[in-house]
Amino acid sequence: MSESEDILLELEAVTIKFGGVVALDDVSMTIKKGEILGLIGPNGAGKTTCFNVITGVYAATSGTISLDGKSLAKRKRYQITKLGIARTFQNIRLFPSMSALDNVLVGADVHSKVGLLRALFRTPYFRRVEPENKRRAVELLELVGVGAQPDEISVNLSYGDQRRLEIARALATNPKLICLDEPAAGFNPAEKLRLMDLIRQIRDLGFTVLVVEHDMKLVMGVCDRIVVLEFGRKIAEGTPSEIQKNPAVIAAYLGTEEADDDAA
Ligand SMILES: Nc1ncnc2c1ncn2[C@@H]1O[C@H](COP(=O)(O)OP(=O)(O)O)[C@@H](O)[C@H]1O
Ligand SMILES: [Mg+2]
Repeated sequence: MSESEDILLELEAVTIKFGGVVALDDVSMTIKKGEILGLIGPNGAGKTTCFNVITGVYAATSGTISLDGKSLAKRKRYQITKLGIARTFQNIRLFPSMSALDNVLVGADVHSKVGLLRALFRTPYFRRVEPENKRRAVELLELVGVGAQPDEISVNLSYGDQRRLEIARALATNPKLICLDEPAAGFNPAEKLRLMDLIRQIRDLGFTVLVVEHDMKLVMGVCDRIVVLEFGRKIAEGTPSEIQKNPAVIAAYLGTEEADDDAA
């Protein structure tokens, strides 16, 4: 493959301003097909904003973003999902009163003509979803480790299971790129190890992964490459060992105790 065929997502000189705040400042980066790319940086660095602009929540003030060479400009969120970008959120956003399985089926539904409303109102159509969709949803629940409780109402699942269920729902859209925003937040060390395995498995299944995460052991252990943001600017990029040695990164991030502020 040539260099450009290798690239799945490309940000070119992306800037986002919120009033006087420059949340992303002239950020260029690429994500290669099949890689696990880590996005790190202190709180307020622009990581979640980066996810939001990639997934169409915000429009870039300037700059371009393309997936497989197609510009994402002016596309709505659901169109970007259909093109192949899925995400999880820093704070859990499931349909709390729906079962684990139905939450995943809603994800699978983005590619059918009927949308979320039918799923939410549990129309006969939704109940009749092709057995194939259901089989796949069950497989995804098993992949993420929630396979034993497909019919449990999602709000009754443990916190960790809810986070993993979000990953299953994102995968159900069959994305080219899955973006995970702080997937290990609130996890204990054993859960973090399982999550690292899961992220690798997801990549091995053919998905490309973008992950924002504060836990350095996880980031360094799982990512092929890492991009570092500080005050909205890209200050470094490289392999985990390059990043660990980078003086600018150490000064900006690794050397400082991060306040555990999950406000966004
Ligand atoms: N919708 C918004 N309106 C105004 N400012 C925002 C908005 N979203 C993010 N910001 C600001 O952009 C900066 C980057 O935020 P964010 O992307 O959430 O950082 P991170 O995820 O790296 O902690 C912060 O200064 C934040 O306050
Ligand atoms: Mg954030």
